[in-house]
Amino acid sequence: MPCTLLLGAQWGDEGKGKIIDVLTENVDMVVRYQGGNNAGHTVEIADERYVLHLVPSGVFRPGVMCIIGNGVVVDPIALMAEINGLAERGIDVKGRLLLSDRAHAVFPYHRALDAGREKNAEAGSKIGTTRRGIGPTYGDKIARTGLRMCDLLDPDFRDRLLARLEENNQILATLGEEQLDVDSIIAQYLDSAKSLKEYIVDTIPVLNKAMTDGKSLLLEGAQGTMLDIDFGTYPFVTSSNASAGGGCTGTGLPPKAISRVVGVIKAYTTRVGEGPFPTELTDEIGAHLGKEGREFGATTGRPRRCGWFDAVVGKYSAMVNGVDFWAMTKLDVLDAIKTLKICVGYKHNGHTYDAFPADVGVLQQCEPVYEEMPGWDTSTKTVTQFDELPPNAKAYVARLCELTGVPLGILSVGPGRENTLRLKL
Ligand code: GDP
Ligand code: IMO
Ligand code: MG
Repeated sequence: MPCTLLLGAQWGDEGKGKIIDVLTENVDMVVRYQGGNNAGHTVEIADERYVLHLVPSGVFRPGVMCIIGNGVVVDPIALMAEINGLAERGIDVKGRLLLSDRAHAVFPYHRALDAGREKNAEAGSKIGTTRRGIGPTYGDKIARTGLRMCDLLDPDFRDRLLARLEENNQILATLGEEQLDVDSIIAQYLDSAKSLKEYIVDTIPVLNKAMTDGKSLLLEGAQGTMLDIDFGTYPFVTSSNASAGGGCTGTGLPPKAISRVVGVIKAYTTRVGEGPFPTELTDEIGAHLGKEGREFGATTGRPRRCGWFDAVVGKYSAMVNGVDFWAMTKLDVLDAIKTLKICVGYKHNGHTYDAFPADVGVLQQCEPVYEEMPGWDTSTKTVTQFDELPPNAKAYVARLCELTGVPLGILSVGPGRENTLRLKL
């Protein structure tokens, strides 16, 4: 398949990093298309555990080109730290990492504004952001006041950054936030521009040429559909299009170039940060999922909220993304649960929703409608073939696929490459 788009179908952390790494065995290029270093994509290989924030998760396969597309927002200092951290562990990205000259840069005022707005937000309206400056950077992009990677290399970059810093220092003052040290920031960014120069290119012709040359591409989504700025639980979302549409606007590849869409979906649900979560479990089952699934944010270390699988979310996500196959992860985390619940609708004010409602108020107050299935009380962690799974586990997976209307492509029963049952992918 020349171009596969892979994305998160829920609220992020579905296991995209692991699945990208598995699928990269057969691809030439892996391309991040949106988000920034709010993402934390974990790849476990043998005893090593890597968490990637900006570098595409194809980096562990030698010879694979890794591309950071125009839709990504890049903190140059964080990217250099990530490149150096990988080099220290023997992973050299030189010559196989490209960074779009159109990608917008994250500056310290974006992070300060992100943190300041969160701090000042009234109870109930905090988003619980990663404080990486993502919202304010995309805000500048849309307001046409951002600076891009090509600007970092421009001779007048110093003056343009100075103007932006002065303006943002005024905004920070009105929020009661500390002033930023203009000179040291300019020096730091000029320095990082020098280090990043070798990676910055126009990635759009590179990607389109790769397609005409018959290369195989994998587009790596960050976050998830329910955090998408348009389709997610607005305003408790991130500031980019994490859904399939972002794959085109964030790379410069036309819609027709994308031959299939893989949705990564957990066999239950998690969410980190604030916002509605109809199937959230605050009881001992929720705590069990958190412990068994090691559900702590890969970027911020915050505990993730856990809950039952939500088929309303799955069906909606399948629809807006045109998902061809699920890569379903973390089935093993459910091994010891006696009875599993699956949400098939929401009840609110006498109305039953089986389509995902826009209104956050409805989502916050609704009562999930559940169906139940028996658990399997057997470890699936060492299973290597789908047929070896306990019958109840097979039935559970089949029901999730049936309810969401998408066939299973991959089933994951552990964090490692070896814990992957490949069916159709
Ligand atoms: P991403 O942001 O979608 O890449 O996901 P994260 O890396 O933030 O979180 C997924 C976590 O689950 C990571 O710690 C993975 O190593 C782990 N993981 C992935 N697939 C599986 C699986 O099938 N079973 C278990 N137990 N862990 C998994
Ligand atoms: P990956 O790619 C899970 C959440 C934050 C917060 C909201 C907005 O690892 O799946 P932001 O910093 O983006 O402005 O925060 O989005 N969030 C994520 N949750 N996984 C992620 O990325 C996330 N990136 C952002 O917790 O609720
Ligand atoms: Mg993550």
